[in-house]
Amino acid sequence: MENRRPLIAGNWKMYKTCPEAVDTIAKLKELVDGVTTVDIMITPAFTALSQVAETVAGSNIQVGAQNLSWHDEGAYTGEISGSMIVSAGCTHVIIGHSERRQYFNETDATVNQRIMAAIRHKLVPVFCVGETEAEREADATCSVLDKQVTDGLQGIALEDLADLVIAYEPVWAIGTGKTATSEQAQEVHHYVRGQLEKAYGAGFAQSVRILYGGSVKPANIAELMSMADVDGALVGGASLDAETFSQIVKY
Ligand code: PGA
Repeated sequence: MENRRPLIAGNWKMYKTCPEAVDTIAKLKELVDGVTTVDIMITPAFTALSQVAETVAGSNIQVGAQNLSWHDEGAYTGEISGSMIVSAGCTHVIIGHSERRQYFNETDATVNQRIMAAIRHKLVPVFCVGETEAEREADATCSVLDKQVTDGLQGIALEDLADLVIAYEPVWAIGTGKTATSEQAQEVHHYVRGQLEKAYGAGFAQSVRILYGGSVKPANIAELMSMADVDGALVGGASLDAETFSQIVKY
């Protein structure tokens, strides 16, 4: 894994009220206390961001949002800006999750604008890409990823991408219990890194962290992490329980 520091991120999606989020994060904080070899990050719902961030302040857990607006402020009812999530204590933001693409009309073009907004606000963008089952069966995985990565990063200067994290999440593996095999994950991660090398050079490609996401659990994390180009995980369902997620963190 060269010198890339692993990142284990938990995506709580639309689960947990404020008290539930605080309860889980307080337990997690104790369970992962003393872990220094990996970065740990949790994305609660917007409503719980401040309280979760206050609970983990000074600990080894970082907090991210699950989305952000590409506008910095204005009359955009229901939207949340980069400065709002920064002021709530966030350092990271997930962008382009497949559930946003599937159910909320997220496109590569809006993903691109959101990545630019994250960069403006000095947030680490966790940029999600991945193919559907039909695309994989049609042998289109590489072309789908090429387009998502190229269009998502369109027009962004290399020096602005220093903190970028990519999350490869095959849509067919999310919440389905079907994990990509570690070989399938490695193959795609290696391919994406190769594309980044062509576009931005080897230095950048070797430094960018590529996470795997899709039915990650305590039983499969070690094997996934043993792959040369897998630099961490974006965990959905198995991040909701503090004990289970702590086992993933301590893979
Ligand atoms: P899952 O979700 O771990 O529940 O499959 C992963 C994700 O959507 O980030």
